Parts: sequence; structure tokens; C-alpha cells
Amino acid sequence: MRLAISTGGGDAPGLNAVIRAVVLSARARGWETWGIQRGFGGLLGDAECMELDRDSVRGITHLGGTILGTSNRGNPFRYVVPGPDGAPTEIDRSDELVRAFRHHGFHALVSIGGDGSLQIAERLGAKGIPVVGVPKTIDNDIVGTDRSFGFVTAVHVATEAIDRLHTTAESHDRVMVVELMGRHAGWIALASGVAGGADAILIPEIPYDLDRVAEKVMERERSGRRFSIIVVAEGAVPKGGTTTLLEKAGAGTVDRLGGVAALVADGLEARTGKEVRSLVLGHLQRGGSPSTSDRLLALRFGAAAVRAVADGAFGTMVALHAEAMACVPLADVAGRTRTVPLDSDTLLTARDLGISLGD
Ligand code: F6P
Repeated sequence: MRLAISTGGGDAPGLNAVIRAVVLSARARGWETWGIQRGFGGLLGDAECMELDRDSVRGITHLGGTILGTSNRGNPFRYVVPGPDGAPTEIDRSDELVRAFRHHGFHALVSIGGDGSLQIAERLGAKGIPVVGVPKTIDNDIVGTDRSFGFVTAVHVATEAIDRLHTTAESHDRVMVVELMGRHAGWIALASGVAGGADAILIPEIPYDLDRVAEKVMERERSGRRFSIIVVAEGAVPKGGTTTLLEKAGAGTVDRLGGVAALVADGLEARTGKEVRSLVLGHLQRGGSPSTSDRLLALRFGAAAVRAVADGAFGTMVALHAEAMACVPLADVAGRTRTVPLDSDTLLTARDLGISLGD
């Protein structure tokens, strides 16, 4: 058995722990393990494939990032190349990828990725590549698993940031608005906002009304608490409005979420007359060492993926179900987003604690 491993899409703390677990579990069965560098780039001529032995994965469990590199641009089904007129155009290089996979003598693939990479994995499975997926993303928005690795670490980082904002907000009697990642799901904002004692949490699942958030700020003001902390998920939307896209100097808006905290801050300043500051926590949420629970989950996912390969359970994704490892069909996962259910216990807790959800 020659097993290939790839890490695709945005990185998440715990990727290296998965790689280590896959390599050690596979090698213990006498298999060869190979890493495809930079997403699927190693099979498309943009990078290499490298053999991974025990030494290659020594001492990496606690390291952030991925020793294989990653990319969120190399979708083989929609590979971007310059067109005849120089403008970017998309071509399908998936057949070439399948040929390269076979040429390397690979028998199976463990694809560690978020929704984009898992969709690619599912389509490669349909083209005959025996594949097992591993759910990775700080956003925690993958369908079919209770949790993806990387999420808890991101929540720790965000909660620590909220703690730090409290002291400066209180010293200055200010409102601080912090924008957190998560794309179109509010998991990171909700978990860290509740744990960090935010006064309002705005998530994509509940369109917000700034008047309601301003009321919360003023209600606190009247009771002598002259500062407030507002946590905003990057994908949060105002009632009747749309998501905020990033503005790039000289280029207008680009197709990436970003900037909602600044909008919320301006709106709150106008409504409350208070001094409001905003910040974007950004990629700090993705960098650095995985938390203990993410390390453990990542190692468990890696070992479970090798068991799935050994069992011939291809076309599946390993998943966490009520603290146990399970396998779910990739076809049920691909192209879907797991958002925060409105009856989520953490959401109910937020309401019970008097945190405004902007509605
Ligand atoms: O999916 C993970 C994530 O960090 C999102 O939370 C965020 O919107 C996006 O990736 C940022 O992507 P990039 O690294 O391309 O800026």
C-alpha cells in the first residue's frame, strides 16, 4: 500500500498532528506514506510529492501550519490559467491529476481539508481515486461531524483577545468591536463571545439590527457600565442587508469577507455618541500551536482515517460523533455548510446571560 496525504485550503492548527498520525499508523501496517505538497500542487507539476517516514513527522504534533504546505487556489476541476487574451480563465485538470496519482503508484489518498477540499476529494473519488477525507477548519462549518480540528484553538485565541479588549475598553469607557473569522457560520464568534463575556454577539445566522445593539450599549451605560464589547462574525449580515466584502485600496471590493466590524463601529458611534474602536483579529486565529483538545482530535482523526483506508471505506470522511470516531459519506458533506442551529445550547446560554444577539 502506498498511501498519499494532502492538505488543502486554509491551514488550521492540528494539520501536522493529523499527518503524523496517518504516517505512524500507516507505517505500523507496513505501508508507504507520501505527502503531496501544496494542496494538490504536487500532482499538477506546481510542487513535489515527498515520501514521509517516521523521521519526517518527528516532533510536529504541536506545530501549527502544515509541513506539506497548502493552497486554496489549486482546485484541479477549476484550475486558473491565463487565457488567450491574458485574462484568468478556468480549465479542468482533474484527469491529469488522476493520471499523476496513478503514475506515482499511489493506492489511496487521505485528503485533509475544509469544504472546498472535501468537495474536490468527493469528485476525485467519483473519478476512481480511493479517498478518505479528514475535516479541517477553524470555522467548524463542516457537515457530518460534531467538530473539525482547529476550531477549539481558534476559539482560545479569540477568547484571549476578548479578555484583553475588556481591560482597555473599561479604562477608556469605550465600545470595542472585534471581527472574528468563520465565513458564513458563527461558531467561533458565538463560542468565544460567550466564553469571553461579550455584551453583544452578531453571527450570520441571526441578522442584526444596530438599533438593538445600540440599546444594549446604552442600557449598560445607564447601569454604570460605561464600556461594551461587541463580537462580530465576519459573515454577519444586517437585517435586510448583505455580507460585507473586503475593500482593497484602489481595487474596490474583492471576493473575500471583511470589514463588518468597521461598519458596526461607525453605526454604533452614530447611535450612541460613544467612542467606538474596531479591530479584525484575522489570521492570528489560524496560526500557532493547536490546543491540547485539537491535537488529540487531529491525532484521532489521522489514526481513524488509516483504519478507514484499511477497511476499504473509501468515499467517506472521518467524523466525530458524540465523542466517538465515525465515517460519513463524502457525498453527504460536499457543498454544504453547517451553521449554528437557532436552538443551539450555546445560543440559548447567550440569551439567558443577557448577551444581545442583535435581534
Ligand atoms: O476557512 C478558514 C478561513 O480562515 C475563514 O475563516 C476566512 O474567511 C478565510 O479562511 C480566510 O482565507 P484566506 O486565508 O484566504 O484569507
